[in-house]
Amino acid sequence: MRTQYCGDLNSQHTGQEVVLCGWVQRRRDHGGVIFIDLRDREGLVQVVFDPDRAEIFARAEQVRSEYVLKITGRVRPRPEGTTNPDLPTGEIEILGLDLEILNAAETPPIQLDSHTADASEELRLRYRYLDLRRPEMQARLRTRSRVTQAMRRFLDEQGFLDIETPILTKSTPEGARDYLVPSRTHPGEFFALPQSPQLFKQLLMMSGLDRYYQIARCFRDEDLRADRQPEFTQLDIEVSFMSEDELMALMEGLVRTLFSEVIGVELPDPFPRLTYDEAMRRFGSDRPDLRVPLELIDVADLMDGVDFQVFAGPAKDPEGRVVALRLPKGGELSRKEIDGYTQFVGIYGAKGLAYIKVNEWATKGREGLQSPILKFLPDATVEGIMARTGAVDGDLIFFGADKTRVVNESIGALRVKLGQDRGLLEGEWRPLWVVDFPMFEHDPANGRWVALHHPFTAPKEEQLGLLETDPGACLSRAYDMVLNGTELGGGSIRIHRDAVQRQVFKLLNISDEQAEDRFGFLLKALRFGCPPHGGIAFGLDRLVMLMTGAHSIRDVMAFPKTQTAACLLTDAPSAVDEAQLKELALRLRTRA
Ligand code: AMO
Ligand code: AMP
Repeated sequence: MRTQYCGDLNSQHTGQEVVLCGWVQRRRDHGGVIFIDLRDREGLVQVVFDPDRAEIFARAEQVRSEYVLKITGRVRPRPEGTTNPDLPTGEIEILGLDLEILNAAETPPIQLDSHTADASEELRLRYRYLDLRRPEMQARLRTRSRVTQAMRRFLDEQGFLDIETPILTKSTPEGARDYLVPSRTHPGEFFALPQSPQLFKQLLMMSGLDRYYQIARCFRDEDLRADRQPEFTQLDIEVSFMSEDELMALMEGLVRTLFSEVIGVELPDPFPRLTYDEAMRRFGSDRPDLRVPLELIDVADLMDGVDFQVFAGPAKDPEGRVVALRLPKGGELSRKEIDGYTQFVGIYGAKGLAYIKVNEWATKGREGLQSPILKFLPDATVEGIMARTGAVDGDLIFFGADKTRVVNESIGALRVKLGQDRGLLEGEWRPLWVVDFPMFEHDPANGRWVALHHPFTAPKEEQLGLLETDPGACLSRAYDMVLNGTELGGGSIRIHRDAVQRQVFKLLNISDEQAEDRFGFLLKALRFGCPPHGGIAFGLDRLVMLMTGAHSIRDVMAFPKTQTAACLLTDAPSAVDEAQLKELALRLRTRA
């Protein structure tokens, strides 16, 4: 129907007759002339109708916002003084010669010019097809498409095969709750939607396919946040006969290529690596935002004798931690701001947020410090803190003391928040790998071991013995790729021996019987010539969120769900009728 996209027109087309199709962004009547801003995927162009052509002019008068039009017109330069440098088509306009109304539109419930994402998200999701007309949303989906194209190109060139795996399947343990689908043909039995293609991609390695990838949908029934959705997309990858170093180098190459090709950003080569232990120690997080130049500094050894139980307790507790966080120029913080940060760390379970303001340490020593806890701290402790943190006049030192987990989570989050609030971020893109994760951690709920990654992750070869003697000390062959505080992807070299897999299941409290029942097919496959293999999965939504500067993964998904895992557009989930339930051999019980 059309000859060009609206947004593609420029002064080179001057004099040409064009046919355009699109939506009415705006209609303005100006002293007997009608201006219509016509919008399509590529942008906006101004069309002018003058009263000479009476019939067409009358039609143009009927037009309202979001009407769908087909316009024939001639490209001409805009008159002197009316060009718009903010608009790519701002040097020209179209003299309207014909106008066909392809469809009318009701008044849209949300404003559609690009600056108005201020409509409530509920309204945006309910009328998603309107929200997606906004140029900002179109640009994000376009970037997403370019990212997946570049991924496919790169992986294809590297000899990867794109292979689909089932959606109706058996539960895979990625640590979330499963979405279940009742089977009609097997009454009382259920499929689980995959939390990831993990087991299938391992089986593909056992099938000899060597290099697999898939842009795969994953389903996890978990508590949602800005960077979590119940269904999301992974770039899922698995290879045979590669060491972790080889695989990590290849995956860095992939991510560097994506950034360079799609948004023109050159990422470092190679990415720096941090061990899990060092990341937790220095940043309190296994996905540290390296743009923030603040670090947690251990001070338990300076505190274990102080007459202040809040500090002395955790300092003496092997599962406790006491840290200082120096904020350069933090002396400027008001009482109110400090109270705000105290509330903030409370979200993560911290019971308080002690601090020392360093006013005039250089000239006055401890008299030059200001702090509600100073009275508890002997001179040697104060001097030790000042020396270790390197604080100077004008700074502020925060303290966290509690169980290690609480300190890491609260002060780790405070570190990032201070970095953002105080404008301290250094560098725009700071990727890294986190390696040397422990195989297991204690579940605080019941004291049992849980897999830090998933139960198919291999232990370090030289530490196999620790599975027997000290599982908590055993490190895994897992690796996470982190960018600006977001975990972009995670993976590992897998267990490829039946005996080791059984041993790990046992440690995870999965009995032989349960293992057979849930993963019997995998255990069997391991005995039929399984190659050493490993892989990784990237969160595509998170990657595109970062690349487009969006604040939520919902903004880079065409049809996302709400925080309560519902689709406002279609009203899913919804009740089903009795006949359907009966067919599935299901009866609903009333909720207690
Ligand atoms: P993992 O569980 O770490 O690993 O997931 C890989 C990546 O997927 C993204 N991600 C999510 N994105 C949006 N919403 C969610 N709910 C969500 N959960 C995870 C993250 C994460 O880094 N099978 C393993 C991979 C492997 O071992 O190869 C797996 O799924 O960016
Ligand atoms: P309190 O004795 O409870 O008034 O606490 C004295 C100071 O220590 C206050 O500034 C509290 O915010 C701080 N504080 C209390 N508990 C902790 C904790 N677990 N970690 C760090 N600071 C704390």
